[in-house]
Amino acid sequence: MNSSEIRKSFIDYFVSKQHTYVPSAPVVPADDPTIMFTNAGMNQFKDLFLGTGDRTYTRAANSQKCIRVSGKHNDLEEVGFDTYHHTFFEMLGNWSFGDYYKKEAIVWAWELLTDVWKLPQDKLYATVFRDDDEAEELWKQHTFICPDQVLRFGEKENFWEMGDTGPCGPCSEIHMDLGEEACDKQHVPGHECRVNGDCGRFIEIWNLVFIQFNRKPDGSLEELKSKHVDTGMGFERITAIMQQKTSNYDTDIFQPIIKATEALCTASYKENPVPFRVIADHIRTLSFAIADGVVPSNEGRGYVIRRILRRASRYGRNIGFLKPFLGQLSKVVVETMGDIFPELKEKEKYIQEVLKSEESNFLQTLEQGIQRFEQLVSQDTIQASKVIPGEEAFRLYDTYGFPFDLTSLMARERGFIVDEAAFQKSLEEQRERARAHAKRDDLLLKYVQQNSSSFAKTKFVGYDTEEIRARLLLVLEQKVDALSEQKMVSGGQNDSEKRWAVFEQSPCYGEGGGQVGDHGVIFDLTHQPVANILDTQKREERFFHLIQLIGNGSLQSGQEYFIQIDRHRRRGVMANHTATHALQKALRLTLGDHVGQAGSLVHPDRLRFDFTHHKPLSVEELSKIEELVNGMIQSYLPVSIQHTNMEKAKEMGAMAFFGEKYGEEVRVIQFGDSIELCGGTHVRNTADILIFKILKESSPGAGIRRIEAAAGYQAANLLLEQSRILEKVVKSMGVSAVQLPETIQILQEKAKQQRKTDSSATTEALNIKEILEQYTKINHFEVLSFIFPENTDMEILRQTADRFRDKDVNRVALLATHNSDKAILLFACSKELVTQNMDCNQLMKVASPFIQGGGGGRPDFVQAGGKRKEGLSESLHAAQDFISKMKG
Ligand code: ALA
Repeated sequence: MNSSEIRKSFIDYFVSKQHTYVPSAPVVPADDPTIMFTNAGMNQFKDLFLGTGDRTYTRAANSQKCIRVSGKHNDLEEVGFDTYHHTFFEMLGNWSFGDYYKKEAIVWAWELLTDVWKLPQDKLYATVFRDDDEAEELWKQHTFICPDQVLRFGEKENFWEMGDTGPCGPCSEIHMDLGEEACDKQHVPGHECRVNGDCGRFIEIWNLVFIQFNRKPDGSLEELKSKHVDTGMGFERITAIMQQKTSNYDTDIFQPIIKATEALCTASYKENPVPFRVIADHIRTLSFAIADGVVPSNEGRGYVIRRILRRASRYGRNIGFLKPFLGQLSKVVVETMGDIFPELKEKEKYIQEVLKSEESNFLQTLEQGIQRFEQLVSQDTIQASKVIPGEEAFRLYDTYGFPFDLTSLMARERGFIVDEAAFQKSLEEQRERARAHAKRDDLLLKYVQQNSSSFAKTKFVGYDTEEIRARLLLVLEQKVDALSEQKMVSGGQNDSEKRWAVFEQSPCYGEGGGQVGDHGVIFDLTHQPVANILDTQKREERFFHLIQLIGNGSLQSGQEYFIQIDRHRRRGVMANHTATHALQKALRLTLGDHVGQAGSLVHPDRLRFDFTHHKPLSVEELSKIEELVNGMIQSYLPVSIQHTNMEKAKEMGAMAFFGEKYGEEVRVIQFGDSIELCGGTHVRNTADILIFKILKESSPGAGIRRIEAAAGYQAANLLLEQSRILEKVVKSMGVSAVQLPETIQILQEKAKQQRKTDSSATTEALNIKEILEQYTKINHFEVLSFIFPENTDMEILRQTADRFRDKDVNRVALLATHNSDKAILLFACSKELVTQNMDCNQLMKVASPFIQGGGGGRPDFVQAGGKRKEGLSESLHAAQDFISKMKG
């Protein structure tokens, strides 16, 4: 059978036993913060086991996409070195939710393996949990397994848990003896082939878990209301067995990827299998993760994916890939798996683009990192101890982007180890520094946590009320690093202090979900204004109003006041918030369904929306998006708001977000085809958005684009202002607005020609050969420091720098020029100096302040621009000075 037939045969078998086929959930768990990636087939049914969710079926079967690279189940280190561990794999599973139990699970597993698939009975072993007499009996009574091939094991092997918390229970595993030749640990002294003996001979194929408990955060076990069955069979392993291969990589699941890799390079899988295996494994993980919305980044899932990509890329280098190649290989994954997992086909181009850009970024520093690594391992002390200091591993991580596991892998290949504890310490120190820089502690949150029992949650009434009478519960003053409660506060002449006020209820929206907090005014019962509200924050559903007393106004806890929001400002916020939803819809229509929200900010006068997409948007795309959003505005679409639960919202087709739990009440905002879960405030009709204008498109990080736009009355004001400026320009140029672009182009052309004439005159006057001789010696460095005349072509500076540094190993060029509006610096040094810690970026750091500018580049080549031409020679001196202090 080929692998697709095996998958189908598994599902068909359980469907014939009244199981419902449930499609695989995404590899990113939609509503479970306890795990990073889907790590088992049962994840999507967790709520059923815990008794908090319900479905129309009590038996299910599927093939689930799983990633095991973090947390409790992590197989990363094994991958490639053996033939049966993977970071991505499919798990075939059948489930009973309070329906059948141990007997059926065991009998059906046996029947499928031996009757349907005809695996040899005498090669199969079953393990049961230490004291599970029942399971042992069932195996012996109801199957033809050899009685002495039913073995008992302890918690480590036979008590399965999803993670640190969650459903768990004793399990019974089925292992198969693949014969002596399958053992991959023969060379390990003392190795003995046995079940759970950690070699390729006895291999676990199927785990039948009898879910009975919930592991609580405090470590205790809570008995569940019903008993359930949760099974998982490694699809790649069973395919290898059925196709009579000793390695999963020899099956039709991996072979197409390995063949395609071989076709792209000159190495051979047979002679050097490890890199091929790692790449074949990792490209599947990367393709599926990216298809399900993960973008490489420096945090969480994104960082895991970045590490995997860097690992694959580094292995690629071992077999001769010097350019990005992973994007090409992802095509094979899409070709072979796209029919079963259509999301791969839908996102094919996007996956390739993410891989290509991420891999090229990494390759830019890989070479330098490897040089640095080589230097390290050749140092005498390191040679002697065979230990790479943690600080050095940290430097490789921080400067060259080497994840710890990559450095440790390279070390392992060369017979070294890395001091991981010291690495973690450096990492922690860096995080500490970052934290210290970050905002001061969240005093409000601390306050709520310490006092939550003494004051109730605030009732928010601001979805449909702009003013309300409410009792003041507390006023807090900020003392150095804590908040203290005041019964009564009153303003004096110079009282500019800001305080936090908490009321029983409030119409003010507390900042959240990207929407800023409301402003407003507090009146006393005689309608005299007593304080302005400058912001509203919310912590654990308590609303804090940042207030400033007006004149001699005073506030007393226990009294009632009127709270009124700043209506005008709020209208702007609502227009921008609804416009953000319209924008998200327009983006998906224009760019594709891979567009997912990665962040958003909603202000009264503008909005910012970050989303997953891998290349800059073209002018045409941006215009189309603007037109679509304005089309929605001009269609007068009523905006409806519904409260429902998560399941219903999903059925309605609402865009799902992370964090919401099953059963939880959610708020659904809908207009036209846009349906989103959202707690924010919205206009009643899209026409109230008035107008939408994109202001800027950029990228805040790899794989993410950002659109800044304006909607509402402020956008209208902005456009009016711009049209006035345009009128002025039109008048002064003496042409019509339509002719303006062309007229400006002609003027620019002329100016460019003029600059060229100026610059070639300057260049002709230069004698580069002479300049190259004008270097001085600083310690053992040869430093050429030269300010070129105004308007010198940058190409001349670049060539001069290259010619100079290429002549000798100790050379640094510090070059400068300027044009009418800019000072320019260009620093370069030989590659050898980089390996001796010279970094032109550092030189630039000390030099560029003198020209009031900045810039960056590679350690051996940096360019910077600045406003202050008079500072050029000081800049060069500062750089020289820095060099003179460097050790040779
Ligand atoms: N959930 C069980 C496992 O992952 C079946 O092994």
